[in-house]
Amino acid sequence: MNKKLWILSCLCLTLTAFELIDYGCIQLPATLLNYANIVFPSDIVNNLTEMDNMPTANPTTDAGATLGRVLFYDEDLSQNHTVSCASCHIQQFSFSDTARFSVGFNGQLGTRNSMGLIHARFQKDAAFFWDNRAPSLEAQALMPIQDPIEMGLSLDTLVSRIAAKSFYPSLFQNAFGTPDVTPDKIARALAQFVRSMNTFGSKFREGVNATNGNPATTPFANFTAQENLGKDLFMDEYRGNCQACHTRNVMVQQGTKNIGLDLVYADNGVGAVTGNTNKNGQFSVPSLINVALTPPYMHDGRFNTLEEVVDFYSDSIKAHPNLSGFLREILPGTVDPNNNPCNTCPPRIIHYTPTEKQALVAFLQTLTDTTITTDERWSNPFCLNTCVPAIVGQSEVCVNEPITYSITPNEAGTTYLWNIVGSYVLVSGCGANDTNCTVRWTGGTTGTIQVTQIIP
Ligand code: HEC
Ligand code: HEC
Repeated sequence: MNKKLWILSCLCLTLTAFELIDYGCIQLPATLLNYANIVFPSDIVNNLTEMDNMPTANPTTDAGATLGRVLFYDEDLSQNHTVSCASCHIQQFSFSDTARFSVGFNGQLGTRNSMGLIHARFQKDAAFFWDNRAPSLEAQALMPIQDPIEMGLSLDTLVSRIAAKSFYPSLFQNAFGTPDVTPDKIARALAQFVRSMNTFGSKFREGVNATNGNPATTPFANFTAQENLGKDLFMDEYRGNCQACHTRNVMVQQGTKNIGLDLVYADNGVGAVTGNTNKNGQFSVPSLINVALTPPYMHDGRFNTLEEVVDFYSDSIKAHPNLSGFLREILPGTVDPNNNPCNTCPPRIIHYTPTEKQALVAFLQTLTDTTITTDERWSNPFCLNTCVPAIVGQSEVCVNEPITYSITPNEAGTTYLWNIVGSYVLVSGCGANDTNCTVRWTGGTTGTIQVTQIIP
């Protein structure tokens, strides 16, 4: 008789546990959270018809956005189950990410900087992505899923995967009245979730709410002198003119602009998608709400800090033929430069003083709204799981997830004796003569799993 001892797993206690998400389990509150009735400040309500891109065919409902929330965080939406929308749109960073170029499911890099998603609802001309190639949030939603770098999944596989997960049919039923899964419903739910990302909790917003009169020209009582100086420059048509494009207290604009980042752009943005060279170098005007949380900056993430962005607008705007008139010199005697911009003048080079530069940055920091970055409504609804690395055969062992150890039979008549030490519950196998042993780790002592082969 010949005995061999195989140590299949030595999960030593010194290993640090890490938290992993369990994509088979969701935790939603018993009552639906509120997405449909987000209260807008009065200045937004007054302009809503001009700003709002919510289509009558897809009004946001609490159940629809809830389904969208689950889909947004589900890594099964990517080919190899490793990337979700939230991998590149992270709540803590106002739904952008920190990389210059986002990493897709296979480790490949895209060519553009991820965009923050707050106030996407207010892009009325409803053109999404840096180059505005997606006509609506509904049309946009299925693009990253099928993108060969980002998520790499066909719509057929998408539908069969989603339909196979136990919790989705009832979420689809609640959202759309029937449990069946279709690409159209997935797109509509994701669009509802993204469109719901409106919060109004910034210091700038407090100032707007508390100010009688024009917030562009009235100093805010809750601002420091420096922040008020930054606001003045931002709003001043002659000294900053930022508000010409970053408008309406949510700092977005319909349409695209060339801001003279380069004389010749490596990525021509709207010009490249439309084939119209007059639009070369034009990009979407992103909302500046939460801009302090979304470095790096610009479509290609070329600037790492807000200071670098302000230095650019101060000193380095280039004379690209398509440069917006709002960033060019003003013809002498022009009464309202924004109504009559000079589209042939040289770029405006203001050369802010160091004090003015710091003030502009301080103002941009008042746009930070941490409601969106912490509110449960936009957080990950999947269950958290504690996992530890395992040594043999498996990359990790997670609480309550079955894990199977196997041994290859080598000689007829061999008996296997499994010896399990630690906080495990037997699931199947693990008896004498079993070549498989499936256990569930309950989260306590990790111990060891050994098997002795008794060869006759
Ligand atoms: C691999 C990273 C990555 C993944 C995954 C990803 N995105 Fe994005 N997202 C980006 C980048 C980069 C851009 C800008 C792309 C461009 O302009 O070409 C973007 C742009 C967007 C925009 C446009 C915002 C605007 O204001 O125009 C929306 C909306 C969006 N993503 C939603 C989603 C949704 C929904 C998902 C999941 C289905 C998703 N993204 C998955 C990286 C990603
Ligand atoms: C002519 C319209 C226009 C004006 C005026 C303008 N911007 Fe912009 N802004 C844009 C566009 C378009 C982009 C994106 C450009 C790109 O990526 O190529 C942008 C990008 C930015 C960004 C980076 C946002 C991000 O998420 O990457 C910041 C910060 C910014 N602008 C601040 C300002 C400030 C401060 C001023 C005034 C000094 C200003 N802008 C004036 C149109 C404008």
